[in-house]
Amino acid sequence: MFLDEIAKRRTFGIISHPDAGKTTLTEKLLLFGGAIQEAGAVKSNKIKKGATSDFMEIERQRGISVATSVLAFYYKDKKINILDTPGHKDFAEDTFRTLTAVDSVIVVIDVAKGVEEQTKKLVEVCRMRSIPMIVFINKLDREGKDSFDLMDEVEQKLGLRVTPLTFPIGMGYDFQGIYNIWEKNVQLFQEENKQQKGTAIQYDDLTDPALETAIGTKALAILNEELELIDGVYSPFNQEEYLNGEQQPVFFGSALNNFGVQELLNCFVDIAPAPLKKQAEEREIDPTEKNFAGFVFKIHANMDPNHRDRLAFIKIVSGTFERNKPYLHVRHKKKLKFSSPNAFFAERKEIVEVSYPGDIVGLHDTGNFKIGDSLTSGENISFKGIPSFSPEHFRYINNADPMKAKQLNKGIDQLMDEGVAQLFTLQLNNRKIIGTVGALQFDVIQYRLEHEYGAKCSYENLNVHKACWVEAKDETNAEFADFKRVKQRFLAKDKQQQLVFLADSAFSLQMTQQKYPSVKFHFTSEF
Ligand code: G4P
Repeated sequence: MFLDEIAKRRTFGIISHPDAGKTTLTEKLLLFGGAIQEAGAVKSNKIKKGATSDFMEIERQRGISVATSVLAFYYKDKKINILDTPGHKDFAEDTFRTLTAVDSVIVVIDVAKGVEEQTKKLVEVCRMRSIPMIVFINKLDREGKDSFDLMDEVEQKLGLRVTPLTFPIGMGYDFQGIYNIWEKNVQLFQEENKQQKGTAIQYDDLTDPALETAIGTKALAILNEELELIDGVYSPFNQEEYLNGEQQPVFFGSALNNFGVQELLNCFVDIAPAPLKKQAEEREIDPTEKNFAGFVFKIHANMDPNHRDRLAFIKIVSGTFERNKPYLHVRHKKKLKFSSPNAFFAERKEIVEVSYPGDIVGLHDTGNFKIGDSLTSGENISFKGIPSFSPEHFRYINNADPMKAKQLNKGIDQLMDEGVAQLFTLQLNNRKIIGTVGALQFDVIQYRLEHEYGAKCSYENLNVHKACWVEAKDETNAEFADFKRVKQRFLAKDKQQQLVFLADSAFSLQMTQQKYPSVKFHFTSEF
C-alpha cells in the first residue's frame, strides 16, 4: 500500500521563460486530469500583462502564488503534483528553490523565440542536479524556427542531448499535425471554424492511404525524410539515460490549441520518475524508508499583516507525514505537531491526514521554519540546499527609524529566510547589502518590513556588477592574504558566512581574476 502510493506519485515543475506558455500548458494538463472544468481557471489567476507593478499587484501576486503553488490531480491512476515555478522575473529565486523539490521537469520553449535567458538559468540548475527533463516546444500553430535547428539550439545553448518523441507535420499556417514517434501514430490537427480548436484524427501508420489524402503527398514525403533524418541523427529514447539526466525527450505542440499535450502527458506518466532518493548531508534517503523525512522548500508569508503566520511548504522525501504526530525540527532540535497540514488540489486545499513521498504539505508556521529546514521522525538529517546565484541588483539597506532596529533586523532575517532576496554583510564596516533578482523586490521588502514588522528602511545605491563566491586554493597563502587586503572594500559575507566578492564591473572582475590566479570566483554559492 505504502509502496504503491509512492510508485503513483509524479512530482514535477514546468520551467520556461515568461510567455513561452507555461500557464497555458499547466491548464491543459489539469483539464486532462479533470482537475478543473474549464479553460481559463489557472489563467485568470495570472497577472495581467501591463498591470502596474505597485504594491497591490505584489500582494495579489503573492496570493496567486499560494493558490498555484502546488496543483495536484490524478491521471491514469497516477497522482501528479505540479509545483509552480513562478516565471515572473522578480521571483526567480523562489523558482530556483522549488527545483529542490521536483523529481523531474518539463521545459517549455517558444518555437519562434527558441532558448531564452530564464530557461537557460533554470535548466542549468536542473543539469547540475541531473534532474530528468522533457522539452516541450510550444506554439507550433505559429511560424517559428525549423524543428531541427531548434533542437540544435537546445543542445548547444542548454547543454542537453535531445531525442524527439513527437515531430510536427508542418508549422504555422501549414501545421497539420503531430507524428507520435513514441506510439508510432499520427494525429492531425484541424481548425474548427477558425477557432483553433484542435481535434485529433488518428492514423496508426504512415502508409495509411487516408493519411496521404489528408496531408498531401508532399507533406508525407517531407515527413518521411524528416523521420529518416531523426533516425540517423538522434539516438533512440533510452529511459535510463533520461532518468539520469543524460538524454532529454522532445515533444512538439500547441498548448493553446491543446495539441500535442496529451501525447506529452501520456508519455510523461509512463516515463517520468516516481519520488527519487535524495542526498542529505549525512546519507542518502530512500523514499521507501518507513521513517518520515522532509524539508522546507518554500515559505509564504500570510498576506494579512494581522496574522503573522506563514505557510511552509514541505516536500516529503520518505515515510509518511501524519496529522498530529510529533516530528523533529532538526535545526531547532525540538518536536512539533501539526493539527492542520494542507494538501493542495487544483481548485482547493484541504486538511490531510496522511501524505506520502512526493507529496507537498503546507504547514502553518509562526516563524519556526526557514528554507532548507528538515523535519524528520527523529533522525538528524540535513538536506543539501540549492545554490544561490548572483543577484542582478544591489542596494545598501539602512535603518530609517532608530527606535526599530530590532524589528528591522528580525524582518530582514525572516524575509531572507523566505528567499525574497539575498543579504550580504560588508566585511569592512558590517553594512548590510540586499541583492535581488528583480528591482521590484526592493519595494516589496520595504513595504513588508513596514507592514509586517513595523520597521522602516531606506536604500542607498551601490554599484555592483556581480556577486562572486570566493574560493581560495590555500587560505593561508600570501596571494589570498593580499587579495583580501587589497579588495577588502569589495568583500562581504553571505548569510551562510561564505566569502563573496562584489565586483563593480566586468572589467574589474577580469582584472582581479588575472591578478590572483589562485583565487577562484564562482557565480553560484555551491561549488
Ligand atoms: P507563461 O505562463 O509561460 O508566461 O505563458 P502563458 O501560458 O501565459 O502564455 C503566454 C501567451 O502565449 C498567451 O497569450 C498565451 O495565450 C499564448 N500561447 C500559449 N500557448 C500558445 C500556443 O500554443 N500558440 C499560440 N499561438 N499562443 C500560445 P497572451 O495573448 O499573452 O495572453 P492571453 O490574452 O491569451 O491570456
